[in-house]
Amino acid sequence: MGSEKVIEEKKQGQALLTENKSGNHKKLYIESYGCQMNLNDTEIVASILSTEGYNTTHLLEDADLVLVNTCSIREKAEQTVRKRLEKYNAVKKINPTMKVGVLGCMAERLKAKFLEEEKIVDLVVGPDAYRDLPNLLQEVNAGRDAVNVILSKEETYGDVSPVRLNSNGVSAFVSITRGCDNMCTFCVVPFTRGRERSRDPKSILEEIKELVDSNYKEITLLGQNVDSYLWYGGGLKKDFKNASEIAKATAVDFAQLLDLAATEFPQTRFRFSTSNPQDMSLNVIHTMAKHDNICKYIHLPVQSGSTSVLQRMNRQHTREEYMELIDNIRNIIPECSLSQDMIAGFCGETEEEHQDTLSLMEYVKYDFGFMFAYSERPGTPAEKRMEDDVPNADKKRRLNEIIQLQQKHGLYRMEQFIGKTVEVLIEGTSKKSDAHWKGRNSQNAVVIFPKGDEQVGDFINVLVENCTSATLLGKRA
Ligand code: SAH
Ligand code: F3S
Repeated sequence: MGSEKVIEEKKQGQALLTENKSGNHKKLYIESYGCQMNLNDTEIVASILSTEGYNTTHLLEDADLVLVNTCSIREKAEQTVRKRLEKYNAVKKINPTMKVGVLGCMAERLKAKFLEEEKIVDLVVGPDAYRDLPNLLQEVNAGRDAVNVILSKEETYGDVSPVRLNSNGVSAFVSITRGCDNMCTFCVVPFTRGRERSRDPKSILEEIKELVDSNYKEITLLGQNVDSYLWYGGGLKKDFKNASEIAKATAVDFAQLLDLAATEFPQTRFRFSTSNPQDMSLNVIHTMAKHDNICKYIHLPVQSGSTSVLQRMNRQHTREEYMELIDNIRNIIPECSLSQDMIAGFCGETEEEHQDTLSLMEYVKYDFGFMFAYSERPGTPAEKRMEDDVPNADKKRRLNEIIQLQQKHGLYRMEQFIGKTVEVLIEGTSKKSDAHWKGRNSQNAVVIFPKGDEQVGDFINVLVENCTSATLLGKRA
């Protein structure tokens, strides 16, 4: 199914490189598809394999081991990976000793079936089993198939320092939760990534310190649902109710974690993703308002503007409750930017319900958006209980209407910056021009301006003079 994003192509499927250890002789080609969490997991895998003698290579033909971290969120994401496997197959003909492993959500969803369906695959490893990779590789090298797709109650990889793959040296991701308990009916994530658990704030702060010491300037805290973060000494979120009174009294929630991080590292910019409307508390919004170094941007997926569709999706809020949350954000942080995820053509969606989505968008006027046509996923509650009955042509047309409207709103939001001065963290050279820097402001808008004597990693004030629907253009103020 078609999917469309108005801003920023996520880095997809290219060989990821690390700084290589001199003693390592085996070559790993590793690539990552899907969400930022997958990219972060890929960094964890590279770290685990680095201690097993593997250096990364960007030449597929040279690899002893090829690993692909996969995404199952939509059918198209899975098809992309299948195509890559064909490519590996062609290379294996030249390099027959090469081993191929599948990681991530497709590994978890398909399990050992993968080995039957795709002869090229030697190794299948789910998102909670990466620590087992060294053992699994031994199995593979002994000529046996290797599968570990056990989901864990505890695994957070809290003590693994991810090697920063393909990083710009300025911004980095830190995972704070794993899994998701929400069971949105369309979503495969609860099945591929397991139950929700949070990571010890101590290990989160330690990882941030390492990054800050290595000169990183911006940290994005990652989780499927960051607002649901809750540390009470370990264990699943769903078991919190059985925790001891002391554990309950000393628990750390997301607002407190944000406050801890922003206070301890006042020179570092913080972002977070993703927020879930049903779990986002006023405390989080107040904490954002309190700290200059927490970026004024919230990715707040809503999926639909219709209460009846939200109900079928098992989202735990109504259209009106979402609007109230938006009003609260606007009151507490007037300059906050907002982005959405939308699904067009979910099961049973009527034209009227689709119009509700457009009118909600009119109400919020999102700065950015990530929009998708509904793609039925095997094993999800929607697949089991509902009919994927919106004709493809209607899905596409509705998706297009949503995208068109988002583009209009994006442009409107960007225009509001013209004539204003914004603080930009320089991330690197603009893709389109060597003579220009690219960075982002607090609201996550990409800002392009002519190079002077600045450096990557500098915070610079830029006067915005012009814009497109997703980019600000300006000059140093
Ligand atoms: N909470 C997660 C959501 C992961 S999925 C996060 O961290 O972003 C990302 C987005 O993909 C969802 O918000 C939804 O808009 C879209 N999506 C999920 N399942 C889908 C499906 N079956 N068809 C189409 N889009 C889907
Ligand atoms: Fe998926 Fe809903 Fe969780 S979209 S990741 S089940 S919050």
